[in-house]
Amino acid sequence: MMLSPVPAPGTRLLVTGGARGIGRAVADAFAAQGARVCILDRDAVPEAPAGWLCCRGSVAEAADVEAAFAAMDDAWGGVDVAFANAGFAMNVPTLELSLTDWRRTVDVNLTGAFLTAQAAGRRMVRDGAGLILFTASLYASVGGAERAAYCATKAAVANLARALASEWGPRGVRVNALAPGYTETTLVSDLVAAGRLDAAALAARAPLRRMVQPQEVAALASFLASPAASAITGAVLAVDAGWTANGAP
Ligand SMILES: NC(=O)c1ccc[n+]([C@@H]2O[C@H](COP(=O)([O-])OP(=O)(O)OC[C@H]3O[C@@H](n4cnc5c(N)ncnc54)[C@H](O)[C@@H]3O)[C@@H](O)[C@H]2O)c1
Repeated sequence: MMLSPVPAPGTRLLVTGGARGIGRAVADAFAAQGARVCILDRDAVPEAPAGWLCCRGSVAEAADVEAAFAAMDDAWGGVDVAFANAGFAMNVPTLELSLTDWRRTVDVNLTGAFLTAQAAGRRMVRDGAGLILFTASLYASVGGAERAAYCATKAAVANLARALASEWGPRGVRVNALAPGYTETTLVSDLVAAGRLDAAALAARAPLRRMVQPQEVAALASFLASPAASAITGAVLAVDAGWTANGAP
C-alpha cells in the first residue's frame, strides 16, 4: 500500500503567524496542494489569495484565537490542521531582560501555542480527527546565551506537543512539533540588522553550511499532514541543516 505524502485536497488549515516567514510558506505550500487556508496574525496578510480567511489578532488573546477558529467553523465547518507557529525572538543579555519582555515572550510563544492547541483540540477531539503542529526551534533542545526566554518557551512548546499527543492520541488527534534551525525570515534578518546575529557565522555553524529556507519547513509540515505521516505523533522533528546534530565548534 502506497500512502500519499501530501495533504488531502480541501484540507482545512489554520496557521498562526501566517502573514510572513515560515507561517506564510506553510500557507502557500498547503494552498498549492488544494488546502483551504485561514491565517491568524497580528498583521495584515500581504497579497492574500482569494478564498483565504485572514483574521487579525494576537495568539496571546484567547478571544482572538477563538474568533479565528469560529470563522473556520462558519466557512468550512471545522479544522483539520492547526499550526501554532506565531512567535518571536529577542536576543538580550539575561541580566537586562525585563519582566515585561519575559512575560511577552511567554505570552506569545507558549501561551499563544497553548490557546491555539486548546481551541483546535476542542473541535478535533469532538470530531475524532485532526493534526496540531507547533513551531518549536533548535532551541527547544539546546541552550544559547542571551536567549533565556526564547529557549525556555521553545522547550516548553516541544513538551506541550508530547503532552497533548499523549492525551488526545486515543481520540484520533495527532500532535507534533517542528524544530527549525536558523531560517531565512524577517525574524532573523531583523536580528542581523540590529547586530545581534551574524548571518555568515550562523551558516558556517550548520553542517550543511547554510540557513534553512521557510519552504523547507513548510515541506515537513505538509508531509506531517499527509496520510504517509499517519503514525507520527508526539514527535519533535528537526529541520535545521544539521545544527543540533553537531556538537563540535
Ligand atoms: N526564523 C528562524 O530562524 C526560526 C527558527 C526556529 C524557530 N522559529 C520560529 O518560527 C516561528 C515563525 O518565525 P518566523 O521566522 O517566520 O518569524 P517572522 O517574524 O518572519 O514571522 C512571524 C509572524 O508571526 C506574527 N506574530 C508575531 N506575534 C504574533 C502574535 N502575538 N499573534 C499573532 N501573530 C503574531 C508576525 O506578525 C509575523 O507575521 C516562530 O515561532 C519562531 O520562533 C524561527
